[in-house]
Amino acid sequence: MEILPISLKLQQQRCLIVGGGHIAYRKAILLVKAGAILDVIAPVIEDQLKTLVEQSQGAFYLKEFADTDLDHAYRLVIAATNNAAVNQRVFEQAERRNLLVNSVDDIPNCRFMMPAIIDRSPLLISVASNGASPVLSRQLRTQIEMLVPHGMGKLAEFSGEWRSRVKAQISNPDERRVFWEELYLSPLKEQVFHGNLEIANQMMAQALSEWTAPKGEVYLVGAGPGDPELLTLKALRLMQQADVVIYDRLVSPPILELCRRDAEKVYVGKARSNHSVPQEGINALLVEYAQSGKRVCRLKGGDPFIFGRGGEEIQELFASGVSFQVVPGITAASGCAAYAGIPLTHRDYAQSVRFLTGHLKEGSPELPWNELVYENQTLVLYMGLVGLEHICQQLIVHGQRPDMPVALISKGTTPEQKVVVGTLSDIASKVAEYHIHAPTLTIIGEVVNLREQLKWNERG
Ligand SMILES: C[S@@+](CC[C@H](N)C(=O)[O-])C[C@H]1O[C@@H](n2cnc3c(N)ncnc32)[C@H](O)[C@@H]1O
Repeated sequence: MEILPISLKLQQQRCLIVGGGHIAYRKAILLVKAGAILDVIAPVIEDQLKTLVEQSQGAFYLKEFADTDLDHAYRLVIAATNNAAVNQRVFEQAERRNLLVNSVDDIPNCRFMMPAIIDRSPLLISVASNGASPVLSRQLRTQIEMLVPHGMGKLAEFSGEWRSRVKAQISNPDERRVFWEELYLSPLKEQVFHGNLEIANQMMAQALSEWTAPKGEVYLVGAGPGDPELLTLKALRLMQQADVVIYDRLVSPPILELCRRDAEKVYVGKARSNHSVPQEGINALLVEYAQSGKRVCRLKGGDPFIFGRGGEEIQELFASGVSFQVVPGITAASGCAAYAGIPLTHRDYAQSVRFLTGHLKEGSPELPWNELVYENQTLVLYMGLVGLEHICQQLIVHGQRPDMPVALISKGTTPEQKVVVGTLSDIASKVAEYHIHAPTLTIIGEVVNLREQLKWNERG
């Protein structure tokens, strides 16, 4: 993050704009709206700008900018002339005095930038791109404008009026957050939007008098294979609601970013042979957090019920009387196959698909080899990288064609996705050659050949 968005209180603060034209006027509107006392310096000043200055109780000076103009106690300065040299001088002089300074459309000469604003006062949303693309920021602003009802401002104001009463009655900050969240999901919101404040106040008083501390709960959430856009809507909602997020190694950083910012994040990641928190410890942790009243998001890669030990975790919750919800995710097989352009079934090549774990149990995978050797079946191997050579050999020994196509998909659906295609007889040797690392999914079957026509995603 190269810039930090903050919100400035400018009521009755003296600010300066150097420049008297239309650009200066546009900036002046915002400063005056925020309650600033505005001074303007320029040899020529548009009439509408002069009027604004007068409204704000500020002063205008019909003159060229001089360095000493900044010796007055200004909170912030905006250089908005059409002369780059003057703007730069304003910037340099302001920097010397540690004043916040903005040169319009001149990022190198800015200490602060003005974001695109969605105004639902007292609620404000700002969009900034550090000058990389003001057009994109504005486009995003338009999209947000359409998403955020105008009544949101009223709702923020209404909330502000009740804030201290709510705080007095519900002293625990976590519980208070749940109270507000539930309230914003209730019909009260619509009443405020429509200006029915009497009804809204009654509803609020009732909600407050009936409030009881929430019980903890666990959301077992599938985070999908890596691309954040593959999250379900429900996953996203619960991730943003949870007080604690307990996550695995396979949960990608961009997905973790989407969790509630101030939620406690607990990493219990497992590398293949390096269990940083043993499964029993994870189960106990879930119970402990939920019993202390927290809403816990247990975030797992892919789908929690497919080679994810999600079943064991909720058995423990059930035994301890903790309530839970399960949110399925896109499993690696679906995600990786789709992003690699390999349909797992196809009328001409595979009428069934089998998900298998290649995880070694005491040294070698025990798989029902005879059941796996069918021409029209796709095999999908999870956790199979280490045992790959042995698995391919065993399939051949049990009658599979050595030239049966195989695809390795590493870090599927992420920007680092890699796909390597071979056959049962040569794929194991390609692992080192192509620097394939975990997590990797293996797809075995005739459908792999379809990738040549169907690969739509150029990664890998
Ligand atoms: C412990 S299993 C968890 C599977 C997960 N519950 C799911 O439904 O995808 C881990 C294995 O899933 C596969 N896997 C998960 N995410 C993957 C990805 N983005 N790319 C390739 N393989 C992945 C790999 O085979 C990895 O070893």
